[in-house]
Amino acid sequence: MNNIYRNTYAEINLQNLYQNYSNIDSLLKNKKVIPVVKANAYGHGGIEVVKYLIDRNIDYFAVSLLEEAIELRKEFKSIEILIMGIIDRSQFYIASRYNLSITIGNFDQLVDIESLDFPITVHMKIDTGMNRLGFKDENDIVKAFNIMRKNSHIKLQGIFTHFATADGNKGFYDTQLSKFSTVIKLLNYEFEMIHISNSSSMIKYESKIDYTTHTRLGISLYGLTLDKETKFLKNTYRLISHVSEIKYLEPGDCVGYGATYTAKEKEIIGILPIGYADGFIRQNQGGDVEINSKRYSIIGRICMDQMFIKIDNTITKHDDVILFGGLVSIDEVAKRLNTINYEIICQITYRVPKIYIK
Ligand SMILES: Cc1ncc(COP(=O)(O)O)c(C=O)c1O
Repeated sequence: MNNIYRNTYAEINLQNLYQNYSNIDSLLKNKKVIPVVKANAYGHGGIEVVKYLIDRNIDYFAVSLLEEAIELRKEFKSIEILIMGIIDRSQFYIASRYNLSITIGNFDQLVDIESLDFPITVHMKIDTGMNRLGFKDENDIVKAFNIMRKNSHIKLQGIFTHFATADGNKGFYDTQLSKFSTVIKLLNYEFEMIHISNSSSMIKYESKIDYTTHTRLGISLYGLTLDKETKFLKNTYRLISHVSEIKYLEPGDCVGYGATYTAKEKEIIGILPIGYADGFIRQNQGGDVEINSKRYSIIGRICMDQMFIKIDNTITKHDDVILFGGLVSIDEVAKRLNTINYEIICQITYRVPKIYIK
């Protein structure tokens, strides 16, 4: 959906996104930053984000799904793409045909991959404590490594792990880091790529790690973090709608489904053409939006396509309304909804077109 007939859209600031990339990249001498563009580039639009970054000489990207990788490959022939999720036997051929690098993290995959009669590029996933994907036991790691090394159709390009608490529990982080360092020593192999850091780890700890070659930058590319002290990130996403209708309420008048809001006095409300089918979920009731640099309250239940705000007589029809990404930050919305900023940007749906600031 590319039209904006109802004047509701996500404004994506690619200049800020690249600035975030550059700022973080400059912290990490001699290491390459891999933008993580899974989930449609965290809701920012995978193709547009990747295109913008390719034009700025970035050539390696990470996604989670085979589908996401294929979508990028169809558009961009020359970049390298790593699928960080686990794919299985029936999908190896497709990955190879599209020249995608895959993640190997268990013996079922290994058995299947050994018998392939075509080349495939792999990254070995080590589970250092997250208990999600990857080889965990040291003996298994060595065994899996040897199997991959002895098969010439398997190009073992990289090795990686993922941190569970880079934004929090430093003790647990250190335990994971130490397990991974032990694995690297144990294997004693010149991997072309060794990558362990996500955004938090990259910003806080990566410069002190000497054996890694790459990092995987997700949320902070998009101007967000779970760490309080990260000041240099720039906002990349504003959710914008407008006042499509104004109503004048008498005392006792009710608003919306369930009539959950009753006017206590003469009040003015604005109707916005955005609702939970756009990913602006019902739990946002009671939060704020921004119009002309001032806050206004969300009242009544949020409908599938529309919602209500309490306004004053300074507001006119068609005034822009910023639902988040301005005065009301994405972090504020996440906190109110008892979740993390990742979820706020990822949950905006396909119905909301994107406008890019390049
Ligand atoms: C394996 C892996 N690496 C890197 C990232 C990027 O993490 P972040 O968005 O915290 O930078 C993710 C995101 O969840 C991930 O799953």
